[in-house]
Amino acid sequence: MTRDRKYYTDANRESWDEAADRHRAANQARLLQDVRNTDYNALDHFLIEALAVPGVAGKSVVQLCCNNAKDLLSVMRMGAARGVGVDASTAFIAQGEELVAAADLQDRMELIVSDVYELPDRLTGQFDIVLITVGVFGWMPDLPLFYRVIERLLKPGGYFVIEDMHPVLMMYEPGKNGAPSTLQWSYFKQDPWRDTEGLDYFEHKDYEGKPAYSFMFKLDDILMGGLGVGLALRHFKEIDVDISHFCQDLEHVDSKPPLGFTMVMEKPAQPIGGTE
Ligand SMILES: C[S@@+](CC[C@H](N)C(=O)[O-])C[C@H]1O[C@@H](n2cnc3c(N)ncnc32)[C@H](O)[C@@H]1O
Repeated sequence: MTRDRKYYTDANRESWDEAADRHRAANQARLLQDVRNTDYNALDHFLIEALAVPGVAGKSVVQLCCNNAKDLLSVMRMGAARGVGVDASTAFIAQGEELVAAADLQDRMELIVSDVYELPDRLTGQFDIVLITVGVFGWMPDLPLFYRVIERLLKPGGYFVIEDMHPVLMMYEPGKNGAPSTLQWSYFKQDPWRDTEGLDYFEHKDYEGKPAYSFMFKLDDILMGGLGVGLALRHFKEIDVDISHFCQDLEHVDSKPPLGFTMVMEKPAQPIGGTE
């Protein structure tokens, strides 16, 4: 049954909040040490390559669905001037605040608890770069509206930079206890997945969790969504590494599917139809 957008985003916020202590136990102590290093960088070379299209030095960056903001902290360490992170989960933003303080970047960073669909107006047109990193499109119940949010946040001439799972990877079900991942879902799946096995994607331990809803996104929806709000495609790369740690065995099979992608889109420097 299809419900309205807020039903899904509220349920997912609760599900992510519920997972936060497990993620903290797996990562936070190490991260609190690591982010003190002025060379700290959690990004892989695919995303670094994509970020090089706009360049980050001196830029104003907002990361949507930033979780504990470790990726945004990395972008700050690469020379960004200002970083704003947004996540619906109060518990993950609290972990992010600890990391920002440990990195001593409070004066240039702000973390905001908000649903991406309900961002404050003061953020409109503020950013050179809108960033999302692995595991965001699949949480969006309304992709066209998500693109309108992104377009609104960007300054004219700003860039949307993405690294995410590949939609073809979403067709697979991860194998349990060493079993191979299996091709199970239609690329054209319309109803959301409803999972109650928890969101512990570090230890991969199932627990009886609150329901989380995720959504199939197709490559044409991703591309046409951006073009539809007036963004221009500047970079697109398909990745053969499981950047999401979702089905790692697929890196080694002969019939290897695409596993991730990076993409960069640019907002025109002046409105379409505008004059010099
Ligand atoms: C897979 S995690 C992203 C992980 C991130 N790339 C990282 O490196 O930590 C997805 C995040 O999206 C957030 N999220 C999901 N739906 C959201 C929404 N509607 N608004 C804001 N945040 C949302 C969740 O709270 C979660 O922290």
